[in-house]
Amino acid sequence: MPAVPDVPLALQESDAGGTPPLRLKQVPRIPCGARRSCLFPACRPVCGNVQKPESRPGILTACRPVICPAKHAGGTAALWSNVAHLHEVVMASGTAQDRINQHAWRSWGARRWFGTASDWTDPGEAAAIASVADEVRGQPILDVGVGGGRTVALLRALSDDYTAVDYMPEMVEICQRNHPGVRVMQMDARNMSRFADNSFALVMFSFNGIDAVDYAGRVAILREFARVLRPGGLMLFSTHNMRGPSYRENLSRFVRLPHLSANPVAVGIDTARVICNLPIATFNYLRHSRLNREFDGYAIRVCAAHKFGIVIVYTEFAAQKRALAELGLHTDVVFGNLNGEPVREGQDLHDVYWFHFIARKAAAGDSSPVAPGTRP
Ligand SMILES: C[S@@+](CC[C@H](N)C(=O)[O-])C[C@H]1O[C@@H](n2cnc3c(N)ncnc32)[C@H](O)[C@@H]1O
Repeated sequence: MPAVPDVPLALQESDAGGTPPLRLKQVPRIPCGARRSCLFPACRPVCGNVQKPESRPGILTACRPVICPAKHAGGTAALWSNVAHLHEVVMASGTAQDRINQHAWRSWGARRWFGTASDWTDPGEAAAIASVADEVRGQPILDVGVGGGRTVALLRALSDDYTAVDYMPEMVEICQRNHPGVRVMQMDARNMSRFADNSFALVMFSFNGIDAVDYAGRVAILREFARVLRPGGLMLFSTHNMRGPSYRENLSRFVRLPHLSANPVAVGIDTARVICNLPIATFNYLRHSRLNREFDGYAIRVCAAHKFGIVIVYTEFAAQKRALAELGLHTDVVFGNLNGEPVREGQDLHDVYWFHFIARKAAAGDSSPVAPGTRP
């Protein structure tokens, strides 16, 4: 499993809903890979802390401004150092990522898109659901991060014993409106204590929804999935490929000429879209890139979706498999988004935008879970 970033205790507490401690000076610094430079440009020639943040392709900045305590000993410097550090803590925390992503889900565009979406996102999703269908038919199913309800009909075709959750009240409302009579609850997947252990045969978190929380939150979600799954039960979730095209996307995606068409209205609308989207995407990209971080086997990075309006976790195939194994879950099969063929370790995965992981909780008294379709 990729190492959980060496986050200060303060962050772990704030992720869990606690209050960050006030003694900021005692909180260890976050290893972001950047060098330091003094917060006051005029002071830099004096104090010598003039290094630029490390520049890596696709990572705009991971600057970690500091006041130089040695040269600025005194109350003001200490205060500013704490302010700079507080900024660093807040920007690096899951709370900041949550705030950004929830803002995106709440937007008019997201509510409209998720409220009207139906059908599969990609052939890999169709293949993934088909591969678990026989085993979970008629069994209790939990649909996590249901959004506007795109997956309701797809999963209710397998079982009437269906429950959906989403942490956004707006999404819960849209889903309930789209699917009256279906059980939809507002709940954060990181804490699903309202569900008893061993309740569901299938837990699904589709369309890369699990990527929206920080890494500690992701582990908490997978732990909750393992807890609420029945022994031998299946989880299905999709997640962005850290080696895939989406990870390499930058602002150039929004730099284009309007599409040509014989219809002048269509050209006008597309021109307006190009003109409006670029400044918004640029603003979001610059603002959210500050959270970009790379770790062993996974990364946090601004994503082009929602005009660079979300910050997500990207993972490597092998690292995600290891992370599941560490939670006692066996990866049965993984599909890519491009087609309905399973993908394998060692394969060239550079074209795959995201994966659909199917993992199994060990059956009672069984230390070696088995693949779908091979159960007695
Ligand atoms: C990309 S949308 C996918 C919506 C839907 N599953 C689909 O496939 O169309 C992600 C959804 O997950 C929800 N979500 C993200 N993090 C969540 C969490 N920690 N707990 C519950 N829902 C979450 C968001 O509110 C959003 O509705």
